[in-house]
Amino acid sequence: MKTKYLLMHKAVPVLRMELDEATGAISSIDDVLSLAHVPIGVVKSGVASHRDLTVWWTDRSIPAFRYGLGEALEALKVSSPLALLAKSYGLSLSDQYWAKPESSCLSWDSINFFDNTFSEYIGDVLFGKKPDVLFGKKPESKELCLISPDITTDGWLQKRWAIVNGKRSLLKGGSGLTMQEPCNELLATEIMKRLGIPHIPYALTFIGERPFSVCEDFITRDTELVSAWRINQTLKRRNEVSFYQHFLDCCEALGIPNVRENLDKMIALDYLIVNQDRHYGNFGAIRNADTLEWLGLAPVFDSGTSLWHDTPTSLVHRAKVHSVPFKTSHEDQVKLIGSFDWLDFSMLNDIDEVFRDILGGSPFIDSARRYALCRALARRVVMLQEYADRRDGSD
Ligand SMILES: Nc1ncnc2c1ncn2[C@@H]1O[C@H](COP(=O)(O)OP(=O)(O)O)[C@@H](O)[C@H]1O
Ligand SMILES: [Mg+2]
Repeated sequence: MKTKYLLMHKAVPVLRMELDEATGAISSIDDVLSLAHVPIGVVKSGVASHRDLTVWWTDRSIPAFRYGLGEALEALKVSSPLALLAKSYGLSLSDQYWAKPESSCLSWDSINFFDNTFSEYIGDVLFGKKPDVLFGKKPESKELCLISPDITTDGWLQKRWAIVNGKRSLLKGGSGLTMQEPCNELLATEIMKRLGIPHIPYALTFIGERPFSVCEDFITRDTELVSAWRINQTLKRRNEVSFYQHFLDCCEALGIPNVRENLDKMIALDYLIVNQDRHYGNFGAIRNADTLEWLGLAPVFDSGTSLWHDTPTSLVHRAKVHSVPFKTSHEDQVKLIGSFDWLDFSMLNDIDEVFRDILGGSPFIDSARRYALCRALARRVVMLQEYADRRDGSD
């Protein structure tokens, strides 16, 4: 069955579209009502592209490779994450878009997740609880249970949103035998705090013995995150233009301020923590969702897939770790940094000891691994400092 929806941006109707209820896919765009509010990267040559809108909409759903997704879909008796999307109106805690059935009288004020609570049901299922057990406890109807920001949250690690001490917060797990990612987020937070890199602070918490990172929502009811991937769609990259330059060109054309200096900081962090996952979905920019004014790059988030988290202990000191997004090696990527003037290396003198304390709290990291990781981190600081000194010398 096809149903008519309005794609909304807060209270602004953006376009009329038809959704296939069974699959959740957008069958057609019927009418564009506000071209300026169409999601970034969807307008091509002045026209909202059905293909690009479909990609944008599909990317809003939980990725097929999410940890534990198969079990959750089976438990929910739903065929795909896309089929869940319209049931929660496509609402998110990272931006302000939503899909409103044309026949409904829902309002932004009454439904957005920034001002209203949301169901924790999907989060519970994604964390392995059985729906029947949950339904037994919850009087809400099934429709209400599906209205959750977890349905529009990206990434492969197990995660859920919750309201913690009144703050919308994202709880995220670790992977593999070491479950190291939440500890890494905490270390990255400490490095960025010391170096003055704009970041979203992560804390560490435990559910049973398993570590989880927790961070507050850095988006408010007035702002929104636009991924670097979407920003990259706004211009066509010519073959002779590097990935780095293309991103800078797109940001400049959109009017995003202070991009280079903030990329310098993110690249330096990623070198230090040997980040292997700073793909274009793991950074972006923030804009005001009402005025559409760009505020700048988003504070750094999602730095956990780093610090040799999936490297066996005995190989940590000599592992070759690839980088993304601009260059495939950290040695090449660090060359993109325009200036090291902001970086006070003395702030990192005891950073290996900080890491030792953080790792000491996790039952998944033994003392041999702790020792290897801290040594390798200290070495990383020295390597970056040596590189910065060499560059200084050759200036
Ligand atoms: N603190 C936050 N506030 C708002 N949105 C966030 C926040 N943290 C993450 N997100 C959104 O959720 C997505 C998934 O989170 P992320 O930390 O990247 O998970 P993963 O490690 O699984 O990739 C991000 O791509 C971003 O869109
Ligand atoms: Mg991510």
